[in-house]
Amino acid sequence: MNEIGRTRERLKRLEEEARAELCAAQGETHLQAVRAKYIGRKGLLTNFLREIRNLPAEERPALGQLANQLKTALEEAAEQALTEERERQKAKQLLREGVDISLPGRKPSLGKAHLITQVTQEIVAIFERLGFEVSEGPEVELDYYNFEALNFPQDHPARDMQDTFYFSPNVVLRTHTSPVQVRTMEKRKPPLRVIAPGRVYRHDSDPTHSPMFHQVEGFVVDHGVTFADLKGTLTFFVHQLFGPGVKMRFRPSFFPFTEPSAEVDIQCVICQGQGCPVCKKSGWLEILGSGMIDPEVFRFVGYDAEEFTGFAFGLGVERIAMLQVRLNDIRLFYENNLQFLKQF
Ligand code: DAH
Repeated sequence: MNEIGRTRERLKRLEEEARAELCAAQGETHLQAVRAKYIGRKGLLTNFLREIRNLPAEERPALGQLANQLKTALEEAAEQALTEERERQKAKQLLREGVDISLPGRKPSLGKAHLITQVTQEIVAIFERLGFEVSEGPEVELDYYNFEALNFPQDHPARDMQDTFYFSPNVVLRTHTSPVQVRTMEKRKPPLRVIAPGRVYRHDSDPTHSPMFHQVEGFVVDHGVTFADLKGTLTFFVHQLFGPGVKMRFRPSFFPFTEPSAEVDIQCVICQGQGCPVCKKSGWLEILGSGMIDPEVFRFVGYDAEEFTGFAFGLGVERIAMLQVRLNDIRLFYENNLQFLKQF
């Protein structure tokens, strides 16, 4: 075999080795290394091309052409091997990051208003339709607004430590929402049509009493407001809340800040007036207190009782809610038991 023949043989072996190594290479780094080994700047084939100039002149063109063809072929083979390797990696990655869209999703749990909030809003909405506006007052209240200006005498039992939480002799946790009447009238002149929802506090705790509970206060002051207006307004309210068929009655009562005063009873919603443990066999349930605002209260806020008259009422939200959903323990409202609260 002559020199050309041997060189051809050498190139052929080089090609076979290169292709075999490309085939066997694992991963991109390895493939790059194989490529560099043969056709990189110091690669075997590159070196061979450099050595060609040392060969006899008549052999150079043929061997040069051969080596160049081989270089192109190996470049293509390496490129193809790299492309295939990258595709394999991509496919593996897609498989790893795959999302199983056939799994059922998790339902987000939606929050909603507490039953007491719902009932308060329902009550307020009824009065808003009658043109009442919403007002609020402080829960930490002065004795003056909670009792004095509402005509509670100094020795009234409601002022007793047994019923009222005192901060000091002059500062209490308000025992009712009625002080909002005084605070509003003090600041503004009639006509007034106000509804005042809020928290109140009393030293009391059993299945039907909680030391904190909610009331809604309402009052109207204007020229010529009469007891008929009170009756009409509260009748509308009761029929909106409990249904137009519900029987109701106004029963004479007493509150220091109203004269005359009346409590409103509705026919027992549990037994339809037949008599049961909830209505204590009477067939009636008391749901609110009301009356014509006492002239003495007007005197405290500087209104002329000869010029203006008004009526007021107050009701307990928990009591209404308990009747609406037939509950006999007030404490369930405050235990944050989601299973219970979610029902409403
Ligand atoms: N403040 C009274 C209470 O807590 C309820 C009440 C009765 C409010 C008669 C009134 C009213 O406005 O006129 O028991």
